[in-house]
Amino acid sequence: MRKPFVAGNWKMNTDSHSGVELAEHIASGSLEIVGRKVTIAVCPPFIYLGPVINALRSSNIALGAQDMYFESNGAFTGEISVSMLKDIGCTYVLCGHSERRHVIGETDELINKKVAAAVSGGLLPILCVGELLAEREASQTEQVVTRQMKNGLAGLSAEKVLAVTVAYEPVWAIGTGRTATPQQAQQVHDFIRRLLAEMYDDKAAEQIRILYGGSAKPGNAAELMGQQDIDGVLVGGASLKADDFLAIIKAAV
Ligand code: PGA
Repeated sequence: MRKPFVAGNWKMNTDSHSGVELAEHIASGSLEIVGRKVTIAVCPPFIYLGPVINALRSSNIALGAQDMYFESNGAFTGEISVSMLKDIGCTYVLCGHSERRHVIGETDELINKKVAAAVSGGLLPILCVGELLAEREASQTEQVVTRQMKNGLAGLSAEKVLAVTVAYEPVWAIGTGRTATPQQAQQVHDFIRRLLAEMYDDKAAEQIRILYGGSAKPGNAAELMGQQDIDGVLVGGASLKADDFLAIIKAAV
């Protein structure tokens, strides 16, 4: 049985005060839920990771970063390494979020290096995949997701891949209010799970959690997570409101 996983991606939002307040609110509101076996993580901006982990200290909420660099240290101005993220208390790291791919210009090859470095360094990567609207309309969803999965996980052994969580985030649903229907999402999640079985083995397919992301909110979270292959949600906008994020966590129980 895969444990449900709800992760909040704060993106480039909050400040030192509001970020801590949000974390404290989520921490106190989730205390009674935590015992009921949901993995919860929040991914604040890099510079607020420190204050946020302090605010989460008495909770079971894990800390995640929104990105990382694959080199361990050195002359890489502006970048953050796996060991730095671990040092500050991170457990998870998003790799290949659609905004990194399509706004910043990250390639599958770069994302693969990040996923591999995260796993080797002991961080748990959340590999984000998903098609653009034009690709869905051209019936290329499976092709795009296959490319992103195969390239993103290239070189990872069947043992190492178990550290990975996959997030299926159709780009046309991110921040648009236009959620994929539970059926549309389930269809792709089922496809990804079968792909994992083909790329690795049944164990990988059964154990790896596949989250849905793209306008997940309190009103649709339960139905999305009620689908057989949807193991949780990666939440953007609604993770910035503690009550909404808590309602989504409750829907995962
Ligand atoms: P959204 O973002 O929930 O605001 O659509 C999801 C994401 O980008 O992870």
